[in-house]
Parts: sequence; structure tokens; C-alpha cells
Amino acid sequence: MSAAPAHPVPLDIERLRADFPILSQRINGQPLAYLDNGASAQRPLAVIEAERNYAETMHANVHRGVHTLSQRATDAFEAARERVRRFIHARSTREVIFTKGTTESINLVAHSFLRPRVKPGDEILITWLEHHANIVPWQLACEATGAVLKVAPIDRNGELDLDAFRALLSDRTRLVATAHVSNALGTVLPVREIVALAHARGVPVLLDGAQAIPHFALDVQALDCDFYAFSGHKLYGPDGIGVLYGRESLLESMPPWQGGGDMILSVSFAGTTYNQLPFKFEAGTPHMSGAVGLAAAIDYVDAIGLDRIAAWEADLLQYATTKLAQIEDLRIIGTARDKASLVSFVVAGVHPHDIGTILDQHGIAIRTGHHCAMPAIEFMGVPATARASFAFYNTRAEIDRLADAVRSARDMFR
Ligand code: ALA
Repeated sequence: MSAAPAHPVPLDIERLRADFPILSQRINGQPLAYLDNGASAQRPLAVIEAERNYAETMHANVHRGVHTLSQRATDAFEAARERVRRFIHARSTREVIFTKGTTESINLVAHSFLRPRVKPGDEILITWLEHHANIVPWQLACEATGAVLKVAPIDRNGELDLDAFRALLSDRTRLVATAHVSNALGTVLPVREIVALAHARGVPVLLDGAQAIPHFALDVQALDCDFYAFSGHKLYGPDGIGVLYGRESLLESMPPWQGGGDMILSVSFAGTTYNQLPFKFEAGTPHMSGAVGLAAAIDYVDAIGLDRIAAWEADLLQYATTKLAQIEDLRIIGTARDKASLVSFVVAGVHPHDIGTILDQHGIAIRTGHHCAMPAIEFMGVPATARASFAFYNTRAEIDRLADAVRSARDMFR
């Protein structure tokens, strides 16, 4: 293996990697190269310690007790909400709903926003690039209401056909729901244009930000989207915690979607009154340590700076694209002009699952399969791909190892 050229963006990568204990492991006798960040990113010590500190010094149930621990837990939970608000530039913490993750956030909108508003024949417009989490909730809503799911096409590079998208917006469109970044192909969608086109027809927009949130700074006010969904675990935070940002006027107009404790003001058999935002959408005991861990992850990412992270990852993407494209019999799937830091690929004669298994023997973790985006993968004419997805703690040297291991896999099947 030749030595990788120095990375052009100044990040003290060795110091940063030391923050992630899991990265120093050996897997199958080799140093771990963790290139499956699109599925779940790793957590720095700051996050692990924040969750531990919460458990050791402040855990109790939030919003429910007058005792000191309950107040500490409540303060920490609400401080986490404020930290999220600042990170995404929401106007108010009333617009920040804690959920289990992106999937639950989208389902909340499908149940509480969409279903009560649509009549048979009304339309929901998505794109061909969506993750199943941004397809199936709308299909379920269509089955329940008689609404119709419209799908804007993509081209062979994996780019959205914006003219076709515009043409599919109609007087019946009640919601546009699109990915910000495709998890399967890496395409960055033209979300500003999408929002502008939809708003010009009075149609609200939900963005699935699961794959965008770790890569780019987000300003929901500048973006002017109506809903934005993301998960903590892709942002170097805990699993089981996520966020739904919603425009306050829309959230106010929506009924709760789950009933239970904390989402009510009063309950009687004559009737129940609901709590104010954001609690109206947070029935039951929330993931308190998860919220605290997510806030620590945001602090961590902000301390590095999303601009520097984006620059580092842009170099990794370009380096990986060049290295992998040099491999005979390898085809990159998803060649959009604007991509986030992941590369999907196939190798002629080798099933992606075999590539994944062989790479694991080299200590390299990637994801293989349809990536929960079967329509996009099938559109690209393949049953599955191998996908390497990069975080700021990855290096060019790891990409060299990836390319060498892919060559070995190809040679084994020749
Ligand atoms: N949606 C996650 C991925 O793309 C799990 O891998």
C-alpha cells in the first residue's frame, strides 16, 4: 500500500480520532476503518461522558417532579432542546420536537399534519431518491385517505429532474417530502429550489435531513422549509433520539399523534386538553439521556466547525471517487454533480454482500444492499451496491485501504 498524500484541509485528525475510543480497535486483526457513517456515526467521549454524567448525577423523570433530581433532569433536557434550536436556527424551542429519530419524525407529520388535511385524489409529491422512511409513511397515509403518491423522476446520474418535479406540482399537491441528501447515492438535492417551487404554489415542504445533518450547517429559517427531520446517531450522538423541526404555525394547527403523559394539560372522561408546544407531540417519558447526549454531540461538532468538516469530507469524497474509479470492473453508482461524502459502487462479477464480507476481513466496515432505498437502487439498474460513507475522522489512508481491499475482492472472484 502506498502512502496517501497529505490531506489539504487542516484538521488535527489524530487528536480528533483519539476522541473516538471505538476507532482504535482492531477488527479481524486489522485496524478498524469505519466507513459506514451513513448508517450510524461513532460517538466521541464527550457524548459518552455527557450521557454518563446525566445518569450519575441528574437522572429522574422530566416535567413531573418537584424534587431536585427531576428539576435537574428537566433543566438538562430543556437545555438540550435549546441547543438543538440554536444549531438548526429555529425561531423557538416550541418548534423543536424530540422524537426517536428521522423515521418517527416523518411518521408524526404523516399522521398529524397530512392525514387530517387530505381528501381522496389529493397528492403528496416525493422523489425517486427517497429512503423507505420517506416513502412508506406516505403510502400508508394514501391507503388510509385515498390520497395519491406522486414521484418525481431522477436521471442516470442520480440527480432530480427539477423540470419534472415542477410539472408534478399541482393544485392537488398537499405536501412535498424530499431527502436533503440521498443515503443510497449521495446526491445533494436542490432543496432551496424545491422549497421555492413548492411555496410558490402554497405547498409546504418536509425535508428528510438524516444524511445532511452531519455534513452541512443547517438554517431552517434561511432554507424556509416547513418540517425538517433528523436523527442523533448520524450526528455522532446517541441512537433512539431525533428531532422534528416544524414551523410553529403548522405545529399549532396539528392534533397530537400519540396520547399519554406529558402531552396533556388536563384529562377527564368528559374531555382532554392538550399541552402547549412542543410537549403536545412528546407523549410519555422521553429519551432524556439521549437528548443530553445529542446536545453534547452538537457542541462537539460545532467546536470543530461544520465548514471545516464539509471541506475535509469534500476532499475525502473526491479522493475516494478518483481511487475507486481507477479500479477495473468497478462502477460508481450515483454521479450527481453535488454529492455528500459517500460512494456507492458495484464490481462486475462480485455481489456487494461478498465485497462487504471480504472488506470486513480487512477491518473495513461498509454497508451493502439496497440501503432502504429500493426504488433508487433499482432505477440505477442494480440490485444492490456497496457503499462507503465518510465522516470527518476518516482519512485518505483508509480510502487507500478500501481501494486495495476492493481489488482483492475482485481478484478472488475472477
Ligand atoms: N438509513 C441508514 C443508511 O443509509 C440506516 O444506512
